[in-house]
Amino acid sequence: MSAAGSPNLRYNGKVTIVTGGSKGIGEGIVREFVKAGAKVVFCARGVKEGKNLEKEVNETGPGESYYIKCDVSKEEDIKNLVEKTVEQYGCIDCLINNAGWHPPMKTVDQTSIDEFKDLLNLNLVNYFIFCKYSLPYLRKTKGNIINMSSLVAQIGQPGAVAYVASKGGITSMTRALAVDEAKYGVRVNSLSPGNIWTPLWDDLAHSSGNFEKSKKDGEEAQLLGRMGTLEESGQACLYLAAEATFTTGIDMLLSGGAELTYGKKTQVNNA
Ligand SMILES: NC(=O)c1ccc[n+]([C@@H]2O[C@H](COP(=O)([O-])OP(=O)(O)OC[C@H]3O[C@@H](n4cnc5c(N)ncnc54)[C@H](OP(=O)(O)O)[C@@H]3O)[C@@H](O)[C@H]2O)c1
Repeated sequence: MSAAGSPNLRYNGKVTIVTGGSKGIGEGIVREFVKAGAKVVFCARGVKEGKNLEKEVNETGPGESYYIKCDVSKEEDIKNLVEKTVEQYGCIDCLINNAGWHPPMKTVDQTSIDEFKDLLNLNLVNYFIFCKYSLPYLRKTKGNIINMSSLVAQIGQPGAVAYVASKGGITSMTRALAVDEAKYGVRVNSLSPGNIWTPLWDDLAHSSGNFEKSKKDGEEAQLLGRMGTLEESGQACLYLAAEATFTTGIDMLLSGGAELTYGKKTQVNNA
């Protein structure tokens, strides 16, 4: 039987957009969805990484991928990506908003108003624009949206007011969209990872001034004693897209139990 006809592929032939798909969590999603038989359109700014991943996963299939250069901070790029997806595949079944950035730690006093606004624009507004342009197509397929949020939207994080605000906005926007879109049969959920080892985490650990300690602290923040993987991130999205058909408006944690029990939380002000 051809791959297209196989009953064992969890998301066979489903047209899926993944933003920020060339590295990190997005790369894990692209790989898992292609393995599940999906037709994955993904974007990033870096062409080399995007084209390399496209070529690599297309050699193994059984689904396929299509890389499109797109900077998610630019509305025209987003519009172009959605139009090209429909031109290429005729429909959209799933939108996974994932592209975002966590700046190095900064206090409120060190964060300018423009920096705060710019991060909301990058992390939150791009998800809204992708939803806005994709929903007319998702309503036709009774598709679904997965918005990558973060555990810190629930529990906070030191030195990350703008980032946490952007992720809180994503989790709340997800619920509001789930309410509005249910009448069209469109499900909208968010996924909130704790610590997942990605190039972004690697950059942040380097910017901390003590890479080894930062990485070890990150690993020990989970009850499970390690960070999550790209594959586990892709699998969680695949579950929400393919199997969680009675689920809308939830925020699914992918956190290894990081939010549970007491820890040493009092911070001494040495200023
Ligand atoms: N890693 C974690 O522990 C963690 C935890 C909670 C939530 N998250 C969230 O998960 C998402 C992915 O994080 P990650 O750790 O996988 O990040 P990452 O390792 O930095 O990967 C980010 C991906 O997004 C792309 N990207 C970044 N800015 C973009 C832009 N303006 N336009 C288009 N593509 C862009 C990057 O490619 P280019 O640079 O080439 O554009 C890359 O493919 C983010 O929303 C993050 O907030 C991560």
